[in-house]
Amino acid sequence: MGRVKALLLENIHPLAVSLLQDSGIEVQSHAGALDEDELIAALDGVDLLGIRSKTEVTERVLQTATQLQAIGAFCIGTNQVALKAAAERGVVVFNAPFSNTRSVVELVIGEIIAMARRLTEKDGDLHAGTWNKDATGSHEIRGRSIGIVGYGNIGSQLSVVAEMLGLRVFFYDTEDKLALGNAHRCESLEELLQVAEVVTLHVDGRSGNAGFFGAEQFGRMRPRALFLNLSRGFVVDYDALREGLLSGHIAGAAVDVFPTEPKVKGERFVSPLQGIPNVILTPHVGGSTQEAQEDIGRFVATKLRDFVQRGTTTLNVNLPTLTLEARPGGHRVTHLHVNMPGVLAKVNSILAAHGVNIEGQMLSTLGDNGYVITDVNDIPRAVVDELAALPETIRLRVI
Ligand SMILES: NC(=O)c1ccc[n+]([C@@H]2O[C@H](COP(=O)([O-])OP(=O)(O)OC[C@H]3O[C@@H](n4cnc5c(N)ncnc54)[C@H](O)[C@@H]3O)[C@@H](O)[C@H]2O)c1
Repeated sequence: MGRVKALLLENIHPLAVSLLQDSGIEVQSHAGALDEDELIAALDGVDLLGIRSKTEVTERVLQTATQLQAIGAFCIGTNQVALKAAAERGVVVFNAPFSNTRSVVELVIGEIIAMARRLTEKDGDLHAGTWNKDATGSHEIRGRSIGIVGYGNIGSQLSVVAEMLGLRVFFYDTEDKLALGNAHRCESLEELLQVAEVVTLHVDGRSGNAGFFGAEQFGRMRPRALFLNLSRGFVVDYDALREGLLSGHIAGAAVDVFPTEPKVKGERFVSPLQGIPNVILTPHVGGSTQEAQEDIGRFVATKLRDFVQRGTTTLNVNLPTLTLEARPGGHRVTHLHVNMPGVLAKVNSILAAHGVNIEGQMLSTLGDNGYVITDVNDIPRAVVDELAALPETIRLRVI
């Protein structure tokens, strides 16, 4: 096999470039995103593709990029990739699901304090030349109750940091989740809303969550509670939040995500939440820090490297997950196939027929796909040809 070639688009962090190059992978970088036709042309002869959120990897792209083996989405979401089409062609997709967790948590904490101290008003007054030294409406957050809705990567990390600051933590999740530290698990959203002086949303973007937090839920919040949404814009009815803020029932809000967000820097932005006191609006920057970018670069590049060097697919998003401890010497055969009974038996009988002894082997399946890694001391050409010729074979690699 010749040298593995990677194409990295959209200004991926230099750490990713050096990590791949240090592993002997040839890296070509491109600052911007490419459109469909440009991408098809650029992928000729490319084994690994690195993208961020702006490059669409469509079914048509995947159809033509026959050499492509893996895609690294150097971001959190993978909506920009036709995941099923990639799986059908044996193209594994990796992302960085928790590289910016801490960044979001830190912004949430900062915003809770900023709202409790009405910092945006104090800051605005002083910039406008008015000295307004006044403790009215300013509070410490120590001892206050925080209600975390969605106790996943971000919600649970927030739970730990909030508790360290002296907040009393309550959470609600539709799944059964382990309560960290002294956090109290609420049985329902209603229970959480009754007790929380700060309500913060960290639910995922499943379609069932559309508009799940609206007038009824704001009405159930404690009077003068604070509200934050740094999860997804479409889960909240912002007109209802506006009403709650204007009536004084909600004392402040911090919002980072919106149902429709401008696509390009500098584009005009309109929201019913603009111009309301003690409301902090940020342009979807919860996870946008230099540290998160660096961690994303390291995390995804490591996954691509381990896939190339060892066939490891752990933490991928569209194919079976598998890690088999590497053995010194010998060869590793990775076989991605259509998931149906008997494929493993066929693989092993081909190996046995050629007298190839199996040193290590592991199988994993997911939906329509099966993936088996087999370590052998020697791999005759005829074995490779017979494995490749199996009707169930999608991808075969000898490492
Ligand atoms: N603002 C930003 O820049 C930024 C950055 C990263 C992530 N996010 C968003 O933050 C959210 C959380 O991210 P994560 O990595 O913690 O996700 P996650 O998948 O780890 O956790 C989401 C949790 O929410 C729970 N959940 C889903 N629907 C629920 C509901 N209706 N009620 C209660 N619980 C519910 C799930 O069971 C899960 O435990 C996601 O929507 C993500 O897109 C935003």
